Amino acid sequence: MHKTIAVLEGDGIGPEIVREAIKVLKAIEEKYHHTFILNHAPFGAGAYFTDGSTFPQKTKEICDKADVIIKGPVGLAVEEMHAIPQEHRPEVAAILPLRKRYDTFANFRPVRLPRSLASFSPLKPEIIGDGIDILMIRELVGGIYFGDKTEGASTGMKYARDDCTYTEEQVRRISLVALKEARKRGVKLTNIHKANVLATSRFWREVFEDVAKEFPDVSCQSTLVDSAAYYLVKNPTQFNGVMLLENMQGDILTDQAGGVIGSLGLMPSACMGPKKSYVEPAHGSAPDIANRNMANPYSMIGSIAMLFDECLGLQEEAQDIWNALFRVFEEGFTTKELANGTHAQGKVLQTTEFGDTVVKMIQQECS
Ligand code: IPM
Ligand code: MN
Repeated sequence: MHKTIAVLEGDGIGPEIVREAIKVLKAIEEKYHHTFILNHAPFGAGAYFTDGSTFPQKTKEICDKADVIIKGPVGLAVEEMHAIPQEHRPEVAAILPLRKRYDTFANFRPVRLPRSLASFSPLKPEIIGDGIDILMIRELVGGIYFGDKTEGASTGMKYARDDCTYTEEQVRRISLVALKEARKRGVKLTNIHKANVLATSRFWREVFEDVAKEFPDVSCQSTLVDSAAYYLVKNPTQFNGVMLLENMQGDILTDQAGGVIGSLGLMPSACMGPKKSYVEPAHGSAPDIANRNMANPYSMIGSIAMLFDECLGLQEEAQDIWNALFRVFEEGFTTKELANGTHAQGKVLQTTEFGDTVVKMIQQECS
């Protein structure tokens, strides 16, 4: 396969974890005889200071020409972010425009913690049971994130307002993606909503349930988001399968899921659109630990596995990466934030060592 890939390293730990992810990409390229042309481009808070924009025109052109995009986390420390005017900050001027530009409406965030790695979780091993395996699917280009926003004053009273809209087409297409995924995996689907209060949520549930009629073989349930937040901690494995969420609720519950499995560093993601997709870790840029070779690159390397599987349709390559990633942990290696005091010296890997170990395992594994 011959593909052009845009690489947006981002800020903070971005360049470090993207570097490890690229090592893994290159190991796969060599092993499976693919050709990838990588075009690096500035994106994020750093790009604002070097290029005057968090999503510069030249980056848009590189992304437009690419088959797929690899994006690291973005954002700097709070003080540095203050130097960027609100409307130019990376969240609203780079990330959301990137999602909108390629209409990447389907965000896959797998939450996986096998029984053997239960010690990573702050929850008791008996709660992890036989392991957590939830694919959270988050709608990514609609809802309150993209509604009209006002900050104003009326009759002397200041107010702020965010509109939340979902169209039938928006709910239908993400419901279809989630239902097809649940069917493919032979798992149940939990649809999340807040229909006891929100009109958009009542509508979401109604449209979802209508689409679900075409999938009588998929077992579906609809659950309130607050209750799901509770049970995600109390009994997470009951959600094993696919979980479907709208944009804002999905933002919150996917971070909570990162906490449940022990680290946001274990949360890769893929953002899929009709024509173009990109991958990114679900977490931020952790500026406090940047440039210290201690960030966990799992989420970025896992995002590369998702790039192969979800974006390029290369399942074997993706599986090879997942196997290597889990083998690293199963052989007792770990990263700083996951080490719980029981790890022997030499087993707590630095960012670069983690990437090298994953590459070694990919090279050893027969294809
Ligand atoms: C995420 C992030 C983004 C979001 C921010 C950085 C805009 O938190 O990808 O989950 O809220 O979607
Ligand atoms: Mn988030």
